[in-house]
Amino acid sequence: MKRKVTKAIFPVAGLGTRFLPATKSIPKEIMTLVDRPLIQYAIDEARAAGIKEFIFVTSRGKGALEDYFDHSPELENTLRKKGKTDLLEMLKSTNMDSGAIAYIRQHKALGLGHAVWCARRLLSNEPFAVILPDDVIAADTPCLQQMVEAHAETGGNMVAAMEVPTEKTSAYGVLDIKEDMGSVVSVKGMVEKPDADKAPSNLAVIGRYILTPDVMNHLNRIKSGAGGELQLTDAIAQEITSADNVYGFRFKGQRFDCGSKAGFLQATVAFGLARDDLKDEFQDYLADMMSVRSAAQ
Ligand code: G1P
Repeated sequence: MKRKVTKAIFPVAGLGTRFLPATKSIPKEIMTLVDRPLIQYAIDEARAAGIKEFIFVTSRGKGALEDYFDHSPELENTLRKKGKTDLLEMLKSTNMDSGAIAYIRQHKALGLGHAVWCARRLLSNEPFAVILPDDVIAADTPCLQQMVEAHAETGGNMVAAMEVPTEKTSAYGVLDIKEDMGSVVSVKGMVEKPDADKAPSNLAVIGRYILTPDVMNHLNRIKSGAGGELQLTDAIAQEITSADNVYGFRFKGQRFDCGSKAGFLQATVAFGLARDDLKDEFQDYLADMMSVRSAAQ
């Protein structure tokens, strides 16, 4: 019987230099889209997919993340006394069962592959998910849940995938497609951040993965790759050679690159417009802005 995917790794050790000076004192993952930190979107998505154990690979200066998922007795008591049950209810999504969350430090920024490898001792011989919180995906069925359902059919290793403009391939892991079956593609090669003229396709890896324990073993041995870093893409690519069980999954939904300022702003607008309590006012504001802009042109 196939083992269920119940553990997810969240690599959150990055310095977030693209968001300085904000990230000088707050972790990038605590930055908010409307009123929820990026990490909350990732955790909600993982929970919807059946994840029960959450492994954070952190670094120095990420203490706010640990506090965020802890109880806050003072705040909770105050809200209780004031009868603010709706806010207390909202805080529940930030709490974890005892022992459900683990933090492990990545001492050196040696790449995404290395970050995932840091969590190896917290996994046994089981498939696991990796979620990159920078990639926020708005979808009717959360992306990882879509993948868990597709993975139940394929087994093996699965990466979320999306077509990107050819000139953007150098920002992504890119798939070399063996067979295109629609939402699922089988993969015969993977390249991390290829130049446009070397990219095997324009189907790019987005930050959701379901991986076999063998990938962890490959991470034990890989050498540094693109950008001089230990790349997760390279370890997954080794599975193609040794087990031929790597699949790309074209998810349904809209992905926002919240690792970039433009992507973060776009996500803020999209999530703001999706909120019942904000959309009317926000939509009016945006419409006014646009008309002022076109009048000025
Ligand atoms: C990472 C991965 C890359 C993937 C991307 C998705 O790159 O290494 O393969 O396509 O995430 O966001 P990063 O954006 O961390 O440089």
